Amino acid sequence: MKALVLAGGFGTRLRPLSCTRPKILFPILNKPLLYWMLEKMKANDVDEVIMAVNRQTAFQIKQSKLQKSDIKISYSFDPPGKPLGTGGPVKRAEKLLRNDDFLALNGDIFTDINYAELMKFHKKVGAIATIALHKVDDPSRYGVAELADDGRILRFIEKPTAKMAPSNLINAGVYAFNPKIFEYIPKGRKVSMEREVFPKLSEQGALYGYVHDGLWSDIGEVKEYLQINLYMLSLYSCDTCAPKHFDNVELKKPVLIDDKSFVGNDSIIGPNVILGSKVYVGRNVQIRNSVIMSGVEILDNTVIDGAVIGENVKIGRNVKINERCIIGDYAIIGDNVFLGEGVSICPAKEVLESISSAIFNAKCW
Ligand code: GDD
Ligand code: MG
Repeated sequence: MKALVLAGGFGTRLRPLSCTRPKILFPILNKPLLYWMLEKMKANDVDEVIMAVNRQTAFQIKQSKLQKSDIKISYSFDPPGKPLGTGGPVKRAEKLLRNDDFLALNGDIFTDINYAELMKFHKKVGAIATIALHKVDDPSRYGVAELADDGRILRFIEKPTAKMAPSNLINAGVYAFNPKIFEYIPKGRKVSMEREVFPKLSEQGALYGYVHDGLWSDIGEVKEYLQINLYMLSLYSCDTCAPKHFDNVELKKPVLIDDKSFVGNDSIIGPNVILGSKVYVGRNVQIRNSVIMSGVEILDNTVIDGAVIGENVKIGRNVKINERCIIGDYAIIGDNVFLGEGVSICPAKEVLESISSAIFNAKCW
């Protein structure tokens, strides 16, 4: 089975962390999302993956050294500077996919959906497109389906207002397509699968839904990204999640600390902390409910609570970083700085003075 992964677009809701990495390479438990997706694909009969990306993302995926998996990976590029939406990239990969039913996956979804079962259902009902559906409390941020008893989707509405949503079943961003799908996608322009193609298919009775009620998360917003990391961490908690060589360090489970990281005396790490590779933590530091990416340096007496810290950030002494702060890669936070709730710092920015929360939230410093 072949799979097309949609991994272009801008990831605007994950800025400033997405300024420097595509969503598909955001780490979950210290491994890129794409790693988890490839593992799942391998376990679900996928032997060839086509990544629909821009050139920058392809470059970063190659740099990430994920290539050495048993699955063949090839790339299908959006035209430079012209993102094609969710439909255009499918049409563009037609030559690679037109021989058989195939999977298509949004590249920002962490889930345990069984792709092989989805494909089986899709073939059994003879659909042109089958959408994996997932139940959520607030469907208004997603595509929403009205599902009939025979599995047909009677209506598909992308991001309806809460009042207009026909159900709580949302498009999980995981699809099985028959090659006939290509006839429904106009060539050479930006196309929204959700606004142009799915509504048409549902009118024709050719769109089906496959309900999934397990693990599902769109990491496209920072809150969700942090949440799925900490949720996975809670499942993963074990004795060997941290190197054994720390003295006088209090580890409050669950924590995951890469072997190549160091934590100084009298520091308290956890609960709910992930430290990536080569993180240096000084003395008397406290970190809670946070994801710290690789190469970060955190000096003595600093407190971090509920934040996401990008790669290679340098944080000085006596710093306080509060809930929902997001620090872009390579930023420098000087000694004694206080960052109030929800402050975002741009990549490589040097911050030497405190920034309080509230009204500044909308801005990236
Ligand atoms: N190659 C390419 N080119 N990929 C793109 C482009 C593009 O121009 N634009 C978006 N994508 C990819 C994104 O990287 C992402 O993996 C996927 O298409 C969906 O785009 P998002 O921007 O993340 O959309 P969304 O999260 O608002 O909504 C979509 O996902 C929801 C589930 O999380 C829709 O499919 C909704 O219907 C769905 O419920
Ligand atoms: Mg998304």
